[in-house]
This record gives sequence, C-alpha cells and structure tokens, in this order.
Amino acid sequence: MLDHLTVVTHPLVQHKLTIMRDKATSTAGFRQLLREISQLLAYEVTRELPMTTRRIETPLCPMDAPVLDGKKLALISILRAGNGLLDGILDLIPSARVGFVGLYRDEETLQPVKYYYKVPEALEDRLVIAVDPMLATGNSSVAAIEMLKQSGANNLRFLCLLAAPEGIAHMKAAHPDVPIVTAAVDERLNEHGYIVPGLGDAGDRMFGTK
Ligand code: URA
Repeated sequence: MLDHLTVVTHPLVQHKLTIMRDKATSTAGFRQLLREISQLLAYEVTRELPMTTRRIETPLCPMDAPVLDGKKLALISILRAGNGLLDGILDLIPSARVGFVGLYRDEETLQPVKYYYKVPEALEDRLVIAVDPMLATGNSSVAAIEMLKQSGANNLRFLCLLAAPEGIAHMKAAHPDVPIVTAAVDERLNEHGYIVPGLGDAGDRMFGTK
C-alpha cells in the first residue's frame, strides 16, 4: 500500500523539475519536460498494480509470464493543466481509459463548480488516478475526488508535480484513503494561492497563454 504521501526524489525527476521551475524555460521546453517527468511519476504511482501471469511461448520454451491484472486503469485529468500530465502517462500506459473533470471557482461562494464531467464506465472496478500538476489549496482536487467517488471510484490515487503543505493537509483531511504522489513539496502558498517557490501558473506555462 502506498503511503499517504510519496515524494519522488529520483535525480532525473528533480533535475527536470528544476528546469521547469526556471522562468527562462520556454513553453515548448516546459511542455516536453512535463511529458517526460509525468512518465517517471506514473512509474511510481503504478508501482502496486495487481499482477497475474499469462502462458506464453518464448523461442525456447513455454513460460508463465507476468502481466497486469484486472480492468484497464482510469486516468482522470483535472482541466486544464491536468492534460499536460495526461499526455506523458498515456505514452507509458496507452490502453488506459481517460476521463476529464472541469471545475471553476464561483466568485461568490468560492466553491468549485463543475462545468464538464466525463469519466469511463465501471470506475468501481478500476484503479483511478486523478492528475493535476499543482496541489495548491486542494479545493478543486478535493472536489474532483469527491465527484469520482460519487461515480463509484473506490481505489484512487492523486498524482501531481508540486504540492503545498496546505493542499496535502486538505486532501488528507477530506480523502485519507487517497495516496498522493508528487515530485516535491514546496514551502507554502502565497496570498494569491500560488505555490512558493513553485513554477508559476502551470496551465499558462504549458500552453503559453501568458
Ligand atoms: N496553480 C498553478 O498553476 N500554480 C500554482 O502555483 C498554484 C495553483
């Protein structure tokens, strides 16, 4: 069983993350690094996938060889920045099923409101990995996980690139059963809800919208 928080300290992950944090890194560079790093993070988050064996014939003899067991896992991108993580993970797990959760913040209530929601069927039978690069306040991630649970998901992971202590605490309080895998835990949130030192707005940096 994964701990509630796993920080992937692998040197390649940390090196790539440093280049992503650097404001001099281009949009294309940021996007490419996110794709690469998401594969390394996916390797960690899928470490405990159930296995079975399949009878195959090598050129030399028959063999009971290990293969993944159970239904295809579901990757859920929390829009829009989640799509940057999604692409890389799909390179590694091309047969995964994919869903999307779109949320915006109601300016009066400050609560996350759903504007798009489409997820694979039979979530209750799948490992469900929700992805969003930044776990900041945790408001949208916690709400997204809640929606996935209402759709039947009961075996969830949350994968992000950077997490703030506030977001981790929020997720742990709301969803203690959902392990978080991240590349780093930063110091804090600033008054605008940005992770510090962070890397800025992940969506803007990967899509070049600012
Ligand atoms: N979302 C981002 O893209 N960046 C942050 O620092 C916090 C939330």
